[in-house]
Amino acid sequence: MEILRSVVVYLHIIGFAVLFGAWLVEASARRVRVTRLMSLGMTIAALTGLALAAPWGISYEPNYLKIGVKLVVLLVIGALLGIGSSRQRKTGTLSPVIFWGIGILTLLNAGIAVIWR
Ligand code: HEM
Repeated sequence: MEILRSVVVYLHIIGFAVLFGAWLVEASARRVRVTRLMSLGMTIAALTGLALAAPWGISYEPNYLKIGVKLVVLLVIGALLGIGSSRQRKTGTLSPVIFWGIGILTLLNAGIAVIWR
């Protein structure tokens, strides 16, 4: 069980890497847009994060307040990705607020994960 949990944490971090990596590629190329890879990374982080929210494979109580905050932040990222990709499809452009919001909130969630114990 402990090994399985570690594997799920590993996949969770890969989801984060895919989401943030895809965002960083666009930011560094000065392209204000969302991509399918960002949504894929977010979906991986969301599914594995929900699996990790339950207390299995560990001998301590999870920090449910921290998990709840991460879930809310993830829902906002999901909303920004959803709104962003539909606006991008319709108008061909994306608001920088939505684009930067996705990157900053993703880093915020990773920061909450490692700094808040
Ligand atoms: C974009 C969204 C997210 C990002 C960037 C993210 C990032 C991370 C990172 C980097 C870790 C590893 C921290 C460590 O092991 O010290 C982690 C762990 C964790 N995440 Fe997330 N996360 C996200 C969403 C979520 C969601 C939505 C949930 C639950 C609803 C969640 C629940 C957890 C839990 C429970 C752990 C601890 C695993 C353990 O030590 O057993 N995460 N997250």
